[in-house]
Amino acid sequence: MRKFAVIVASDTCYSGENEDKSGEKIAEIMSGAGYELYEKVILPDEKDMLADKMREYSEKNIPLVLTTGGTGFSERDVTPEATKAVIDKETLGIAEAIRLKSLEKTDKAMLSRATAGIAKKTLIINLPGSVKAVTESLEVILGAVGHGLDIMLGEASNCGRK
Ligand code: MTE
Repeated sequence: MRKFAVIVASDTCYSGENEDKSGEKIAEIMSGAGYELYEKVILPDEKDMLADKMREYSEKNIPLVLTTGGTGFSERDVTPEATKAVIDKETLGIAEAIRLKSLEKTDKAMLSRATAGIAKKTLIINLPGSVKAVTESLEVILGAVGHGLDIMLGEASNCGRK
């Protein structure tokens, strides 16, 4: 089973003021899709703390890291910036696909600045910070991400091409 980690970026969940629901939902959906939860952590919206955790997972070769929250317009929203500080390659198609399909559900999807990318052998994907948004987003990407991970890990060639 392929491992995944979840990073919840939320000042209010970190302080205990709010309960984490979107990280729990990600864990539930991914476990149901055959992935194995390595760890779920709750961090404040601090760029360095978020980036350090992403780096740690990348150094531990966790193939997939899903973040939730901190992709919007508030001053404290820095998850995409933390991600960009860690990744070697952007995988923008993933973030674009989420926004494109999500726009069919809500025009507010354009307010997510989420990105995605590869750090060594770890694919990091930002998701927005609500149960509704993570559910809608994972629905869009799950199939293609499985294939992308196969390619990233050298277990499949590019869509059958040599
Ligand atoms: N994407 C989907 N699929 N569904 C949603 O309900 N909410 C949007 C957007 N993306 C939403 C979505 C809203 S309201 C915001 S403000 C942004 O994600 C940023 O969310 P975040 O700051 O929690 O990361």
